[in-house]
Amino acid sequence: MSQHTQPHLQWGGRFTAPPDAHLLAFGASLQDDLVLAPFDLACSQAHVDALAGGGIIDSARAAALHSALGIVEGEIADGRFFTTATASGAEDIHGAIDARVRELCQNGDGDWLHAGRSRNDQVATTLALYSADRATRGMHHCREIATVLLDVAELHEHTVIAGTTHWQPAQPISLAFWLLAAAEPFLRSATRFAQAHADAMRSCPLGSAALAGSSLPLDRNAAAKRLGFASVSRNAMDAIGTRDSLLDVANAFARSVVDASRVCSELIIWATPAFGYVRLGDASSTGSSLMPQKRNPDPFELVRGAASEIHALASGAVTSLIGLGLSYHRDLQQTKRMGIAAIERAMCTLSAFSLALADTTFLPEACARLASGGYTVATDIADALITHGASARQAHALVGAAVGLAEQQERELDVHDLAKLSIAIHATNLHAPLDAQASIAAKITAGSTAPSAVRAEIDALRADLLQFEMTL
Ligand code: ARG
Repeated sequence: MSQHTQPHLQWGGRFTAPPDAHLLAFGASLQDDLVLAPFDLACSQAHVDALAGGGIIDSARAAALHSALGIVEGEIADGRFFTTATASGAEDIHGAIDARVRELCQNGDGDWLHAGRSRNDQVATTLALYSADRATRGMHHCREIATVLLDVAELHEHTVIAGTTHWQPAQPISLAFWLLAAAEPFLRSATRFAQAHADAMRSCPLGSAALAGSSLPLDRNAAAKRLGFASVSRNAMDAIGTRDSLLDVANAFARSVVDASRVCSELIIWATPAFGYVRLGDASSTGSSLMPQKRNPDPFELVRGAASEIHALASGAVTSLIGLGLSYHRDLQQTKRMGIAAIERAMCTLSAFSLALADTTFLPEACARLASGGYTVATDIADALITHGASARQAHALVGAAVGLAEQQERELDVHDLAKLSIAIHATNLHAPLDAQASIAAKITAGSTAPSAVRAEIDALRADLLQFEMTL
């Protein structure tokens, strides 16, 4: 059977037998790359410009192709195309759109769309456009999450909690300081997305054809310009073989969900009755089918779980390139599948995170309950001894001994301990914080939990966010 009886195949002239149906289905990527439809469409519109610009097709044919593509654009926008594409039996979205254009142009104009084009440069260009689009969406997600965290931080500049390391009480911090620590990574992620966007739009692969460029006079600049790329790619083989943009964006997403998962892990613990620092809203909590009293923080647990899944997919995408020769290999279809899956899953994970976060109430009294306990002011007392002339080692040993004694007596450190420490170092007038508020207020370094430093950080983060809004 030749290709003429198999319109869904983009090849076949040299074969006498049809492909095995199972192998054809195994090689299909349509379900994975339906999400690429709008980008492949833009890519096809740009290719028509390249064909017309090079005089390969005349303006009437270009208009016919543009008009067919316009119809497909409408079908993609209203969702109809997905049914058409799935029913077409096409291997991938690129073939499905090409087949639909040929069907719409009844006079054979559609057969010109693929002149001078390979699916290799088509896939590469489509993926670059998709990656750039998702990088912008990644920036939006990060900005949204950082904004939620900042808004809550402004409500809690005076709420105190026991900052922990190793989950053990360490030093008092303000809740605002913790929330800002949670927000900072999302600003860094936004920068990562901005960089990935710029890189994706740097050079246009379209016109690279299969790997060697084309003998047809394609107007590559016209295509690149229409798609918004800064220039045309410099090496056809590199252009069709690289998946850098997809991997960079998948990595930026994978990093963001890891940041989200770390915040989730604290919130999950804070939502337990033992802490009770936070209460999840009804809209983001789940109950138990058996235990009537339950209020479970499922969205935060699911975000934490999804982070592993997204990393597995993103790392699968990168590792699918290991040892692959230059140019195109069908393995790259796997890279595409995993990269897209990582990105799409990450986008819904980040919006779930942001929704659940916005529905979380922080309870100041519960937060403060543990802030001064567990000897969290010990470091401030040691700092005070150093200020009065003790060496760091001496101060550490003396305060450590005072903590040991207080622990035996089942009490916190108090003014009597300060008096004894003062005598031990021959100091007069030793003042040191004995509660969380005083400890926080005593910090004087830039970037600390001190109220003035926290205020400065809030203002700086707001300015950064504004800056991002202007670039979006
Ligand atoms: N379905 C393939 C993909 O998405 C299309 C690439 C076709 N190129 C080729 N040389 N077979 O990667």
